Amino acid sequence: MAVTGYEKSKLRPSGKSFADTIPGPRGLPLMGVLPGLRRDSLGTLIRAARDYGDVVALPAGPRRVYLVNHPDHIRRILQDNHRNYGLPAQYRMLRPVFGGGLFTSEGERWQRQRDVLQPSFRLSALRELAPVVAAATEDMLARFERACTDGVPVDVAEETPALTLQVAARGLFGADLGSRASGLARDIRLLIEEATRRTMALVPFAEHLPSRRNRRFARALGRLDAAVAGIVAARRKAASPDRPADLLTRLMAAADAERDADAAIRELHDQVKTMLVSATVTTANALTWTWYFLSRHPQAEAQLRREVTECLADGAPGAADLERVTYVRMAFQEALRLYPPTWRLARTAHEPDTFGGYRIPAGAIVVFSPYLVHRHADVWENPEAFDPERFTAERSRGRPRFAYIPFGGGPRACIGAQLATMEAQIVVAMTAQRFRMRPIANHRVEIEPVATLRPRGGLTMTLEPASG
Ligand code: HEM
Repeated sequence: MAVTGYEKSKLRPSGKSFADTIPGPRGLPLMGVLPGLRRDSLGTLIRAARDYGDVVALPAGPRRVYLVNHPDHIRRILQDNHRNYGLPAQYRMLRPVFGGGLFTSEGERWQRQRDVLQPSFRLSALRELAPVVAAATEDMLARFERACTDGVPVDVAEETPALTLQVAARGLFGADLGSRASGLARDIRLLIEEATRRTMALVPFAEHLPSRRNRRFARALGRLDAAVAGIVAARRKAASPDRPADLLTRLMAAADAERDADAAIRELHDQVKTMLVSATVTTANALTWTWYFLSRHPQAEAQLRREVTECLADGAPGAADLERVTYVRMAFQEALRLYPPTWRLARTAHEPDTFGGYRIPAGAIVVFSPYLVHRHADVWENPEAFDPERFTAERSRGRPRFAYIPFGGGPRACIGAQLATMEAQIVVAMTAQRFRMRPIANHRVEIEPVATLRPRGGLTMTLEPASG
């Protein structure tokens, strides 16, 4: 059997190797691989793992960046030694978009916030959202119906963000964004893409220049902030007994109990914004890719359709049905494996640490990629194949937990993972009840790894009635 990169690295005597001896590309003088990381980040990471193994030094200008690509190493960062890892300093560029909400907070503040939010993301609470998801899906399917009748294809990558934003706004905050949802979803996409681009900026403070790009960013941010302020204000106006027992009411009660009222109000605003931003584009891309794979794998699509017909007949799936539509769940999980929307994660090491005999220094930025580890040859057989049944209980047995990280892992794992999965099951099942989605002939779909992994130029599909 061939010795893998990981095994080779384990053969090195522990503690004897230091940062400079970690293998990796040299890149350009001074800049290292930074231009490559900016231009083609995913390609650079794929080549680095292919050529150098599971721990790779990536000189990136003044920064010490290391790619780690083994489930054991990722478990160490996210779980076993998670206290040694903080959010990279570049995350400050995400602050205008996420504010001081859960995504960007750390330490005690993060723990306090997570404790307040967590009960709303328990399965028992999420099950109550099933009708909200079904209603928002109905709205989208009504648009699909018109397109189908008119014989017009739909760009599902354009449709899904409005749906996932509506689900988050209605389900978590009781707010119906109505016809504003599409525009706001586009704003959210622009905001996270631009903020993520800024984390890689070569010119410091470029975000303050009066460029067209920065002005567009400011306008989109203004609209998102106004929408969030409107959601909170509408709830404040409602008399206490009329307030639903949802996440917004919980966040407002927590804010009212704080002594520093101004800071608490700001944090409430940031938390609502964080949830809307985190929920929208990720879940939308995941849905889009699920349809992409199903449309290209007729056998899988037929199996999914059979399951939906057997388990649900014509009705919308309720919470109780979700355990039965297992193939729908597995198709979604497999799409997340192959094209994980959050394709790159990063942390900064507070203290030195050791991976497979290689020691990384304090202050190092460690980067790891769901896209890469989801294809790791030590774990995944035939990794490029779309095969939902990898996720049966039987075939999942013994698989390392951190070989599959579309939602991250450890204490900072995605708080919305179960919501996203439930939502996808309902949306995909309801869509399959009505339509067959077909790819456009000769249309090559390419991945575009920006802030999230999405199809370049959208994903246009034709719709046929399912019963036809
Ligand atoms: C398919 C959809 C989704 C994907 C692929 C996804 C992916 C992720 C990943 C990978 C992380 C970990 C980031 C890290 O470790 O640095 C994360 C964190 C987070 N996600 Fe999601 N997510 C999805 C849906 C959602 C939804 C629906 C919500 C909210 C309703 C949400 C809210 C959050 C928040 C607030 C965090 C930060 C958690 C913390 O740091 O404690 N996500 N997500």
